Amino acid sequence: MLICCFFLQALLCGVIVMRPEDPFIFLEEKLKEIMEKGPDAGLWYMCIDPSLRTNLKRIAETYLNTLFGLDDEQLVTTELCAKALHFYSRNLMKLYFRGWIKYHLLRKNKRKKTERKMALAVVHYKFRIIRVIIQKWNIWVQIHKEKKTLATRRLQQIFNKISLNAVLKAWHAEACSSLKTKAYFENLVKKGQEGCFDSNEDLTYESVKCKTSSLPEEALLKIFRYVNLVDLARCAQVSQTWMLLTQNSSLWSDINFSSVKHKIQDKIVVNILQKWRPYVFRLNLRGCYSLHWPSFKSISECKNLQDLNLSECQGLNDDSMRIISEGCPSLLYLNLSYTDITNGTLRLLSRSFPNLQYLSLAHCRKFTDKGLQYLGSGRGCHKLIYLDLSGCIQISVDGFRNIANGCSRIQDLLINDMPTLTDRCIQALAEKCQQIMSVVFLDSPHLSDTTFRALAECKLVKVSIEGNNRITDVSFKLMSKCCPYIRHIHMADCQKITDAGLKMIAPLKYILVLNLADCIRIGDGGIKPFVEGSSGAMLRELNLTNCVRVTDASVTEIAQRCHNLTYLNLRYCENVTDAGIEALGNMSSLISIDISGTSISDMGLRALGCSGKIKELSISECQNISDAGIQKFCQDTKHLEYCHVSYCPQLTDETVKALALHCHKLTSVNIAGCPKMTDLCIEYLAAACCYLHFLDVSGCIRLTDKALKYLWKGCKQLQILKMLYCRNITKQAVLKYTAKLEKQEHNDADPPPWLGYDRNGKHLTFTKKPKSELE
Ligand SMILES: *[C@@H]1O[C@H](CO)[C@@H](O)[C@H](O)[C@H]1NC(C)=O
Ligand SMILES: *[C@@H]1O[C@H](CO)[C@@H](O)[C@H](O)[C@H]1NC(C)=O
Ligand SMILES: *[C@@H]1O[C@H](CO)[C@@H](O)[C@H](O)[C@H]1NC(C)=O
Ligand SMILES: *[C@@H]1O[C@H](CO)[C@@H](O)[C@H](O)[C@H]1NC(C)=O
Ligand SMILES: *[C@@H]1O[C@H](CO)[C@@H](O)[C@H](O)[C@H]1NC(C)=O
Ligand SMILES: *[C@@H]1O[C@H](CO)[C@@H](O)[C@H](O)[C@H]1NC(C)=O
Ligand SMILES: *[C@@H]1O[C@H](CO)[C@@H](O)[C@H](O)[C@H]1NC(C)=O
Ligand SMILES: *[C@@H]1O[C@H](CO)[C@@H](O)[C@H](O)[C@H]1NC(C)=O
Ligand SMILES: *[C@@H]1O[C@H](CO)[C@@H](O)[C@H](O)[C@H]1NC(C)=O
Ligand SMILES: *[C@@H]1O[C@H](CO)[C@@H](O)[C@H](O)[C@H]1NC(C)=O
Ligand SMILES: *[C@@H]1O[C@H](CO)[C@@H](O)[C@H](O)[C@H]1NC(C)=O
Repeated sequence: MLICCFFLQALLCGVIVMRPEDPFIFLEEKLKEIMEKGPDAGLWYMCIDPSLRTNLKRIAETYLNTLFGLDDEQLVTTELCAKALHFYSRNLMKLYFRGWIKYHLLRKNKRKKTERKMALAVVHYKFRIIRVIIQKWNIWVQIHKEKKTLATRRLQQIFNKISLNAVLKAWHAEACSSLKTKAYFENLVKKGQEGCFDSNEDLTYESVKCKTSSLPEEALLKIFRYVNLVDLARCAQVSQTWMLLTQNSSLWSDINFSSVKHKIQDKIVVNILQKWRPYVFRLNLRGCYSLHWPSFKSISECKNLQDLNLSECQGLNDDSMRIISEGCPSLLYLNLSYTDITNGTLRLLSRSFPNLQYLSLAHCRKFTDKGLQYLGSGRGCHKLIYLDLSGCIQISVDGFRNIANGCSRIQDLLINDMPTLTDRCIQALAEKCQQIMSVVFLDSPHLSDTTFRALAECKLVKVSIEGNNRITDVSFKLMSKCCPYIRHIHMADCQKITDAGLKMIAPLKYILVLNLADCIRIGDGGIKPFVEGSSGAMLRELNLTNCVRVTDASVTEIAQRCHNLTYLNLRYCENVTDAGIEALGNMSSLISIDISGTSISDMGLRALGCSGKIKELSISECQNISDAGIQKFCQDTKHLEYCHVSYCPQLTDETVKALALHCHKLTSVNIAGCPKMTDLCIEYLAAACCYLHFLDVSGCIRLTDKALKYLWKGCKQLQILKMLYCRNITKQAVLKYTAKLEKQEHNDADPPPWLGYDRNGKHLTFTKKPKSELE
């Protein structure tokens, strides 16, 4: 092979150097030559012509010569040798270094690998350990869990037993109490009419009859005095004794036709008065609209008549008055309010009734200033001490001057509903009438402090003013100076009155009534000094309706100081809370309280009930009281007569049930705006509260005809019933069951939005302050 290669080399060299014209032939010749000469002759130049061969020199020998023109000897110098050595050693070093580096890298890699492996091993180890731990923990948890479930189950069992026990006990108690309640109410229903007597024994009709017949005559007479004319006539038919009793003249000295005004006719009046005319002292014909000449004629025959009320008698005019004035010389009281009398009657008054002391001309619009002159002329009404001119807007300053001239002894002055009343009118009066003690000016917005200056000479004991924007603290200052005996101050809705004014009347000693309703600037700063003042312990009535600045501080002070307070009104005093109301619970004098619209809750209500003396309670619009609070309150308060819990939509039947159960003396109940009330509660109420006079169930949308039936059966005394927005009460039922009531209101409209719920009792989200117009 090597030989072949060698020959190939020789052949190729030959071809390259010789550059034969025909290479194949050349190659053939040379190959032959080679084969003859044998392989030994194989030199690289054997195929080259010897002529050319001389030019060829072996590079190995001559290479450096040809390059540098140097001999071999010349080449091998010491420098070169050193260089070569240096080069050689460097190469060697490089080689070694590389090898060393390689070795190190190798070792490093190895180390890293082992490290990595070690780390893995550690992780693995840890993992294994954790696994073991977890396994063990798992087992422990399992065991524990089982233990726990076992324990829980046992506890649950125990708890269930206990709670079951409690529930059973409660159920038992509830069952017992409801059994009692049921029995109680059944008993009441059974007693029916006779149930009204507070007695435990069964009262049958027979026993009642015996008892009433065996009453002493004087007692019976007293009872008859409270019976109206129609019923008196019925009583007369019961028995001979009763008939005789109804003929006792003492019953006929005071005749009230007003109580049967719808049935009264001339004939009846004439008959009665003809028979009893010498005895009649007092006659009330208020609102008897169908009287004519014959009646008035017989009135004039009652020579001893002292007190005559002709208010709202539509048939009355100057002519009828003339007839009356022909008799009755001893008349003391005359009420002509809401009639059509004119100047003529005033003239008769001064002529025919010289003793007249009390006169009401309220809302008589047809007389004039000039007519009032008659009061002073002739014999005149000089003895008049009481005068009511309410609503007589036709009277001017001249008229008042005329009154002052005629009636200088006036003590009580009533001028309500007269927007035209000015300070000058009062000045004209006060000039001559220095004995005025009591003034009532409701709805006179033009009066000012000047009025009080004019009245400074009078020793006022009563002042009533309402809806006035001009009266200021100055009036209070005048009062504290000039009216040391004042007992009654009513300054409602006077916006200019402030705490400072109230402070000024603190030294007054005899104030019994203080009404500052709607004086919104009044607050603790006035109430506290006043209550601490001289009248605090005397005060009987305090009305702070809408005084939002009054807080618990005042209420606590009131509770501590006002030991004689019987009436307290804190309606809409939003800043009064349980803390204040609880203090009131200690007041044994308090009988009537209105805390509607305050933020009172069950706690306060319970504390309030503690004294057990409360007879009248208003807690309308109190969102924070519940059935439970009312139940607690009722338990202690057996004497409750008046209970208004309207617009508390959270209250349910339980409230009314509690009322019915504990408070049998209720006469006035208002549950308007409580949509959860059902027929059931009315059943309770009707069964237990037979004295009920007034009931408002407006907006109790669940009530049906049944409720009316219960009321009809149970509450025989009911006079006023309001059932607005009760669509499930039918017109027929209203007609059937409320015919005997004095007044009823019913409609089946949807509840208005301000009630806060819709026709199905669903709560409406927006909140608007309910109006109290329904009350
Ligand atoms: C009226 O009753 C009283 C009290 O019972 C009695 O004293 C008087 O005699 C009676 N009068 C007549 C007229 O019967
Ligand atoms: C007369 O009856 C009316 C209506 O019942 C009542 O309001 C009034 O107080 C009675 N008057 C007297 C003097 O009894
Ligand atoms: C009728 O007038 C008299 C005085 O004249 C009074 O006492 C009585 O209360 C009046 N009655 C009514 C129902 O107003
Ligand atoms: C007169 O009658 C009216 C009712 O019509 C009553 O309010 C007023 O008190 C009576 N006045 C007197 C003095 O009786
Ligand atoms: C009485 O009053 C009428 C108006 O009602 C008036 O026209 C008349 O002049 C008055 N008469 C006297 C004498 O005052
Ligand atoms: C207290 O004031 C309010 C609001 O003016 C009124 O409705 C209420 O009748 C007053 N109470 C008394 C007892 O006058
Ligand atoms: C409280 O009222 C009673 C009875 O009305 C009276 O005797 C007593 O003097 C009054 N107390 C005060 C401090 O005025
Ligand atoms: C009273 O209540 C009103 C809002 O109802 C509040 O603006 C006022 O600050 C309160 N006053 C006091 C003294 O708490
Ligand atoms: C109520 O009165 C009792 C003693 O009569 C007293 O101990 C208690 O503190 C009073 N409570 C309040 C709230 O004033
Ligand atoms: C009812 O009580 C809650 C707290 O108990 C109070 O935030 C809320 O103002 C109270 N509502 C009224 C109307 O007072
Ligand atoms: C009330 O009346 C409505 C229809 O006006 C009726 O659908 C509903 O059942 C009635 N509810 C009761 C309790 O009778």
